[in-house]
Amino acid sequence: MRAARAAGRIHLKRLSRITVGRKSNSIDLVTEADRESEAAVIEVIHRSFPTHAILAEESGASTHQSDHRWIIDPLDGTTNFAHGYPQFCVSIAYELRGRVQLGVVFDALKKECFFAQRGKGARLNGKPIRVSTTPSLGASLLCTGFPYDRRERRRYYLSFWEEFMTRVQGVRRTGAAALDLVYVATGRIDGFWEFGLKAWDVAAGALIVEEARGLVTNMDGTPLDMNGANILATNGRVHDEMIEVIAGARPEADRRHSEMLRQEQASA
Ligand code: IPD
Ligand code: CA
Ligand code: CA
Repeated sequence: MRAARAAGRIHLKRLSRITVGRKSNSIDLVTEADRESEAAVIEVIHRSFPTHAILAEESGASTHQSDHRWIIDPLDGTTNFAHGYPQFCVSIAYELRGRVQLGVVFDALKKECFFAQRGKGARLNGKPIRVSTTPSLGASLLCTGFPYDRRERRRYYLSFWEEFMTRVQGVRRTGAAALDLVYVATGRIDGFWEFGLKAWDVAAGALIVEEARGLVTNMDGTPLDMNGANILATNGRVHDEMIEVIAGARPEADRRHSEMLRQEQASA
């Protein structure tokens, strides 16, 4: 939590004077705040645990092996941050022998600190939190996100959005996956799905959802694979319905994507 607060201070300091760079493609941004807050988080962790391994979004994985590993997204919601849209956070998880034990997601702007320890429940600013009791998809508010290959695979991702938007009370796309997850944990939303997330997007948030008595799996219901996470996180009650909708939408999503590629090739 000390590391998360250090990152949060940098987010607030940097928010008013943002320098934006680009990573692999024109929509994947990186700001000074990403780099600085990552350095601050790693410094705090290394001061206490110099031998632990690190997996961090901007600097990658440490080369040495350790039973202990920290998984860090120093700034989740960079596109929001770069535009001054108030939805971003830092996400830090601690893993022991491949199993996440602690997770913290801190939204410095709203002063909301979500925290969970395996087996000890989840908390928001120290108070216990629980997922919603919404019983069915029809009564649900859902959230999703689109990965950075969304331009190339837009038809595919939009097929799922289309299926859900006709079945639920509302669908949101807020742009910070770690916050989407902890919003499931607090019951602000009932379910969240997203393709192609990375371990640093989900490691902390997934534990926080589970500890708030929610359910987190791959989209087909199998145990979550954090690397290449096609994640489904819900209050538990709407989980099976969401799996069904996703499975039902897949063939059409594949068909639309292939069709789009054919059209693009034909016009190239
Ligand atoms: C992104 C956000 C966004 C999600 C993307 C992520 P970043 O993380 O969580 O909501 O849709 O897939 O990559 O790049 O802002 O740390
Ligand atoms: Ca992220
Ligand atoms: Ca990030």
